[in-house]
Amino acid sequence: MSRTWNFYAGPATLPPPALERAKADIPDWEGTGMSVMETSHRSPEYDAVHEEAIALMTELLGLDDDHQVLFIQGGASMQFAMLPMNFIPKEGSADYINTGTWSQKAIKEANIIATCRVAGSSESEGFTRIPKQEELDLDPAAAYVHITSNNTIKGTQYHRFPDTGDVPLVADMSSDILWRPFDANRFSLIYAGAQKNIGPSGVTVVILRKSWLEKANQDLPSMLSYATYSTKNSLYNTPPTFAIYMVRNVLAWLKDQGGLAATEKTNRAKGDLLYGVMAEYPDFYHCPVVEDSRSYMNVVFRLPSEELEAKFVAEGKAAGMVGLKGHRSVGGCRASIYNAMSLEGVETLVEFMKEFAKKNV
Ligand SMILES: Cc1ncc(COP(=O)(O)O)c(C=O)c1O
Repeated sequence: MSRTWNFYAGPATLPPPALERAKADIPDWEGTGMSVMETSHRSPEYDAVHEEAIALMTELLGLDDDHQVLFIQGGASMQFAMLPMNFIPKEGSADYINTGTWSQKAIKEANIIATCRVAGSSESEGFTRIPKQEELDLDPAAAYVHITSNNTIKGTQYHRFPDTGDVPLVADMSSDILWRPFDANRFSLIYAGAQKNIGPSGVTVVILRKSWLEKANQDLPSMLSYATYSTKNSLYNTPPTFAIYMVRNVLAWLKDQGGLAATEKTNRAKGDLLYGVMAEYPDFYHCPVVEDSRSYMNVVFRLPSEELEAKFVAEGKAAGMVGLKGHRSVGGCRASIYNAMSLEGVETLVEFMKEFAKKNV
């Protein structure tokens, strides 16, 4: 397979073995003479894939019996609304920690549905860091505390999750779920659009603490109620079967690689290489993010001018590396290096960065 080094923030690069498996399966999947896309979601063959995807996620995250894996459509953006609809009681409110664009979108949606408070923010510092525990103003009566564990646009990441006491902790982990081992059972709900670290777009993985459902609002349309997905094992209506099949392929690959401990090692090596090259050429590359909040999934950086940034992106593309442009709202450059980006891909980028700095300084 001839592959481009793909640094897009999402949809993002997928592991070649997961793609090869799909390629082989498409004309005749498991001897059915059909692809998974053409198979009933009530068939035993599909059911096996659905269950395997759930089992792999459960195993990789070490989920306990009270946590359930759900597959929901509508993207992480629909979770911004679904979460408060289900879990903010009529007279209650929820706490949100504002760490950038995606947190702001979550806050905006929550305020349409109910009331939420901003319990911490790094907005006054341009979202260049994650607020520290002692800076948070948490309401002990909040319905939950919501964080964005990795800020895809600003390039920041939580390296320690906040202590919220007895208040349920919820995270949007769209851009860093499964990047390293962590205690997923501490969370009452985790959601992640699949298209960065776990598969193609079209499915959002939700990890839900089942016992929390007892507190959920009941008077909701079926498709917007977590209870529907929980009681029907995400098969109330037709799920995005091909996307879930691909999630299965990606998770099986991740397990083959040695699981989360192994992927963390590679991810740290990749991030350290990129932040290292910036330290080596400090007059040329600048990372705006405070050191202890730097992301190992989305590495953002500036060059001395916007002209040089445009040249960097164009020459990078010519050299076989796509997706190096920063998000349009912030400019600059960004390398998204999710689990499926190999160390070799990052080494190629780092060599290019060194040469580019030497030629253009
Ligand atoms: C952290 C984060 N949350 C939410 C979203 C929105 O995801 P979706 O496009 O699946 O709605 C994104 C998309 O990039 C994201 O990076």
